Amino acid sequence: MNTSLFLPALLILHLTGLTIMAGTTIVDFTVFKTFWKHFDDNTEKSKGILAGTSKSSTLIGIGAALLVITGIGMMALTHGVFGEQLWFRIKIGIVLVLMLNGIIFGRRQGQKLRMIMNNNGAYLTEQVDQIKVNLNIFFTVQLILFFSIVFLSVFKFS
Ligand code: HEM
Repeated sequence: MNTSLFLPALLILHLTGLTIMAGTTIVDFTVFKTFWKHFDDNTEKSKGILAGTSKSSTLIGIGAALLVITGIGMMALTHGVFGEQLWFRIKIGIVLVLMLNGIIFGRRQGQKLRMIMNNNGAYLTEQVDQIKVNLNIFFTVQLILFFSIVFLSVFKFS
């Protein structure tokens, strides 16, 4: 196989996956900020804003799949040399935390919020306040993790 051609091609797709996944996360973060701004005074408007994030989990899933598939492809092409390096092992650990934070923590908060919005305003203020705090923590953690993964991948210290 022509490694000098396939490796850069896979890296381009890898970075495309990163752009889709991290880009969607940043956009979601700003959409949620606008959502909270209108939450107290205009429920209908905030419902509409929340609907703007309905395709996000699909996009994030596509980005994540692209990252993992092309990452495994690059590992195969380089005969797993990166697997022995410290930066790569730490990176994979952080990738797992990123995925678990998204699947277990972030998605659950989104689902809770959507359920409350579909209940036409029947909610407890403390419950909503907690979701707001949790989502802020979730997005901040995700963005720090993305930055750490990119940092490690670029500097590749071992
Ligand atoms: C959120 C997940 C991920 C992000 C943000 C990410 C980000 C990056 C970035 C920015 C680079 C480019 C470094 C450079 O050459 O300047 C890179 C390279 C690389 N990534 Fe990932 N990556 C992720 C997941 C994965 C996974 C799951 C694997 C393997 C299963 C993987 C394997 C690799 C390999 C082997 C390289 C080195 C390619 C080379 O320099 O020849 N990545 N990654």
